[in-house]
Amino acid sequence: MPDTIIETHQLTKVFGNNGNAVHALRGIDLTVARGEFVALVGPSGSGKSTLMAILGCLDSPSGGTYALGGRWVHGLSGAELARVRNEQIGFVFQSYNLLPRASVRRNVELPMLYAGLGRRERRRRAGELLEQVGIADKAEALPAQLSGGQRQRVAVARALANGPALLLADEPTGALDSHTGHEVLALFRELHARGNTVLLVTHDPTVAALAERKVEIHDGLIQLPSAAAAAAGAPAEPGEPGQVAAAAGEPGEPRQDAAAADSVSAAAAAEPSPDAAAAADLAATRAARRPPRRRRGR
Ligand SMILES: Nc1ncnc2c1ncn2[C@@H]1O[C@H](COP(=O)(O)OP(=O)(O)OP(=O)(O)O)[C@@H](O)[C@H]1O
Ligand SMILES: [Mg+2]
Repeated sequence: MPDTIIETHQLTKVFGNNGNAVHALRGIDLTVARGEFVALVGPSGSGKSTLMAILGCLDSPSGGTYALGGRWVHGLSGAELARVRNEQIGFVFQSYNLLPRASVRRNVELPMLYAGLGRRERRRRAGELLEQVGIADKAEALPAQLSGGQRQRVAVARALANGPALLLADEPTGALDSHTGHEVLALFRELHARGNTVLLVTHDPTVAALAERKVEIHDGLIQLPSAAAAAAGAPAEPGEPGQVAAAAGEPGEPRQDAAAADSVSAAAAAEPSPDAAAAADLAATRAARRPPRRRRGR
């Protein structure tokens, strides 16, 4: 495995077109080395979740390049991206995105099921992961029977299921009280200390201060350290385009909704999925196995 986990060059993302185009990312150059713990910070609407979705292979960029672990991932097909997600990426969402009707253990086992691990091995590893995040005693509970902090621990265990090269977390403590939030953060620090590469979005400066490196994004662009320092000393810009758009459109939500919708639709199916990524992975696996459907005649 190469030492660079993330390498992007001039990554752009445009939502909509022509008259109502939103330039969410405007040329992101980001490099993250193996084993780093990076905090991604910036005002609401600055493009953090958009960038995380692309880095997590949940979305494709409009332009630019992205190499994950030395392999180009921009331009891969949906099925190929699903495989990359399942094997290489662990994603932790603010809203946990656990399957409500599946036990904690099953939630953690699902990514391993998609990866083709046998039952016994899945069980063993899920037990180990739950132990690692400190909730082994809740293995048979349903998510609704857990506190927010415990749910996020399950989500972290699930993210770690297939030993990902990269752990991405978009405001993982955003829905938690500060004490529980700090406990979950301590978990991320511990994972980092064990060699995991972590990229975490946060609004909380004390959280950002815990990371090894802070990357600041403003209006779809990474701020250079000097510009970031200047911006920190300057008064907030009320008319910042990203902020206006964010206030109007609740930017983080469409993707969260999409993830939730995928969870819900997948949960309605016989083989449910814990999040958008897993749902897509399952769909891709099914599509690959299924012969072409004949709609008419014969
Ligand atoms: N699916 C979408 N369709 C159209 N515009 C979008 C979409 N997703 C995000 N945007 C826009 O892209 C910009 C960046 O949004 P993004 O969600 O990445 O911001 P953020 O930095 O994560 O904000 P927050 O801190 O509030 O979560 C915003 O202007 C937002 O309105
Ligand atoms: Mg966001």
